[in-house]
Amino acid sequence: MNQILEASKRISALVADAKQYSQLDRAPFQVANIHELLRSTLVMFADRLTKDGSKDGSNSNHPVITLVKDFDRSLPEIPCYPGDLNQVWTNIIDNAIAAMRDTGGTLTVRTCRDGENMARVEICDTGPGVPEDVREHIFEPFFTTKPFGEGTGLGLDLAFNIVVKKHRGDLRVESVPGDTRFIVLLPLQAPPAAELDLPE
Ligand SMILES: Nc1ncnc2c1ncn2[C@@H]1O[C@H](COP(=O)(O)OP(=O)(O)OP(=O)(O)O)[C@@H](O)[C@H]1O
Ligand SMILES: [Mg+2]
Repeated sequence: MNQILEASKRISALVADAKQYSQLDRAPFQVANIHELLRSTLVMFADRLTKDGSKDGSNSNHPVITLVKDFDRSLPEIPCYPGDLNQVWTNIIDNAIAAMRDTGGTLTVRTCRDGENMARVEICDTGPGVPEDVREHIFEPFFTTKPFGEGTGLGLDLAFNIVVKKHRGDLRVESVPGDTRFIVLLPLQAPPAAELDLPE
């Protein structure tokens, strides 16, 4: 009986995570806690990430990717499209994990304030980096360096549209071999409704 109880608790936690990630039962535009969104996205990558560098807990045969979370808990909740932001984290984290697939490494997810008006989320990997001639194209739709059939080249195009066009934020990359950072800036205050593409 205890085992059944434990299992059903785990299942209900998984369903809660999936609901939180998909934001299916939430309003599209609302005030949300960035850390909660990042957490529910990271759960989806749990089988590729470990917290302490050990293989335990990661049930894949890939090299170890260690997750480091460096959250500024004093950040206020922000007005945003939470489901879309989860898509942004997903696409950037997916790329970071792909970049470290053969070598393993460290995925760092950092949050802090950026000046008066912005929240800053950095997703960093220790992979080989984005070469300069590639960097200028990565936000273009259908640009990919992945083998045919593996990448569509739409991940960062979508992320750019969500962050820059939909939230009036900014998305940049800084990269040297061993230290690549995708930096997402999001306004702490909602822009005037007319500026956002809100449904009529
Ligand atoms: N963390 C990273 N390290 C190294 N290169 C990266 C990283 N993130 C993105 N890139 C480069 O940017 C390109 C475009 O990324 P994007 O996510 O738009 O497409 P994709 O990952 O190739 O395909 P998709 O995401 O559609 O499956 C990648 O093919 C890769 O060359
Ligand atoms: Mg991608």
